[in-house]
Amino acid sequence: MRKLFLGFLGTLVLAAQASESPGVAYPEGYRDWRHVKSMELKPGHALYESFGGIHHLYANPKAVKGYRTGRFQDGAVIVFDLLEAKSEGNAMTEGGRKVLGVMVRDSRRHAATGGWGFEAFAGGDPGKPVVGGNAAKACFECHAARKAGNYLFSSLRD
Ligand code: HEC
Repeated sequence: MRKLFLGFLGTLVLAAQASESPGVAYPEGYRDWRHVKSMELKPGHALYESFGGIHHLYANPKAVKGYRTGRFQDGAVIVFDLLEAKSEGNAMTEGGRKVLGVMVRDSRRHAATGGWGFEAFAGGDPGKPVVGGNAAKACFECHAARKAGNYLFSSLRD
């Protein structure tokens, strides 16, 4: 009886983990992907607290295709690489990495968040994911406003 009970609990715990945090992998090799665009958010910008600094967006080949066709296949990955912005003389230069944001397309696994999995790695460290099962609140609430555009804000420039 005790064994049966524990078995049942174990199944519940596994099920909860699976539904809360489908997991998004660190985007190995993204610096060799296609550069989508860059942008600097300065003090005074509404999102400065969370996203202040300079960011570069990168897309893997499937995501590039998605930007071009308006349809993102499973496996498309987009990276938001946020660095400190340092003012030096009359130039703005890149500082240390603040966070690496990732969106991964998997329409079934991440159905609850528009078919996109979200994760962010503190300081760009693969061992420091900070979103986990919190993607709906931490990321998707804001991206949901872009439903008509595949939940993306950016577009690819030539
Ligand atoms: C308050 C709104 C807001 C929140 C919260 C937010 N984002 Fe974004 N995100 C944006 C905006 C605006 C852009 C467009 C930036 C640009 O055009 O350079 C963006 C762009 C992105 C992109 C590039 C693809 C796109 O949509 O253009 C990724 C990847 C991304 N965010 C990941 C995340 C992750 C991961 C989280 C949660 C940790 C998150 N975002 C939370 C507003 C938000």
